[in-house]
Amino acid sequence: MSHHITEVKDLHYVYPDGHKAINGISFRIHHGESVGIIGANGAGKSTLLMLLMGVILPSQGEVRVGDILVTKKTLPLIRQRMGMVFQNPDDQLFMTTVYDDVAFGPRNYKLAEEEVEKRVQQALEMVGILHLKDRAPFKLSGGEKRAAAIASVLSMQPDILVMDEPSSALDPKSRRRLINLLNKFEHTKIITSHDLDMVYDLCARTIVIKNGEIAADGPTPEILMNAGLLDACGLEMPLAMQGCPVCGGKKIRKLTG
Ligand SMILES: Nc1ncnc2c1ncn2[C@@H]1O[C@H](COP(=O)(O)OP(=O)(O)O)[C@@H](O)[C@H]1O
Ligand SMILES: [Mg+2]
Repeated sequence: MSHHITEVKDLHYVYPDGHKAINGISFRIHHGESVGIIGANGAGKSTLLMLLMGVILPSQGEVRVGDILVTKKTLPLIRQRMGMVFQNPDDQLFMTTVYDDVAFGPRNYKLAEEEVEKRVQQALEMVGILHLKDRAPFKLSGGEKRAAAIASVLSMQPDILVMDEPSSALDPKSRRRLINLLNKFEHTKIITSHDLDMVYDLCARTIVIKNGEIAADGPTPEILMNAGLLDACGLEMPLAMQGCPVCGGKKIRKLTG
């Protein structure tokens, strides 16, 4: 399990065209926490994840992973600790076989081929697609591609897993498989999603973003039951928390994340 704290202090980001996407965000995420980042389209979720990963650097404020400040210089270290699964698996898979895609990171770090093979095998087994190792990534289904993209990050053995809308474009079975898979990981998880039922299943804590600012940060059940807050942020209570149309009862499940 990770012992790294991810800390963001007074973060601001202005896109080159002048658009202010992040306007003063601060939070701390402790090791082993599972945190959902939710908000309407355009709220700033993907921008925030890119800042955490150092894909873009802040206009003001700072991001720290453990004791390391995210800068151009520290990026290789940050990338070893933090792995990001992009929203679109096609942005992550570019080799001719699934095996080579999952081996890409470890090979890049010049690990011995024996160690690379061990890591690839482990990562593919973890996401349940070892049988697809010789297939071409672009020929896989949406769910299989997502699993391959996750494996390509897991093979780097990150302490922090960052995921942008991981359940988007998945059919219900692949989505459930993904939730079960992510629930098994002991990594720190930071997940953006519109799928609030998934956030409910996976994340004990939720941060709500509105117009590049934090609108709320707290225990997921509390946040997701606050219909007024969700409505003001362009969101809707997840189905699991909406009253049954017949009996009016609510289906509150036990939180596992
Ligand atoms: N490359 C860019 N240049 C200018 N503005 C951008 C760019 N990418 C995103 N934005 C804007 O920044 C805001 C936040 O975008 P984003 O982080 O993608 O939101 P979310 O992931 O919550 O939907 C939006 O208003 C979006 O239009
Ligand atoms: Mg986004």
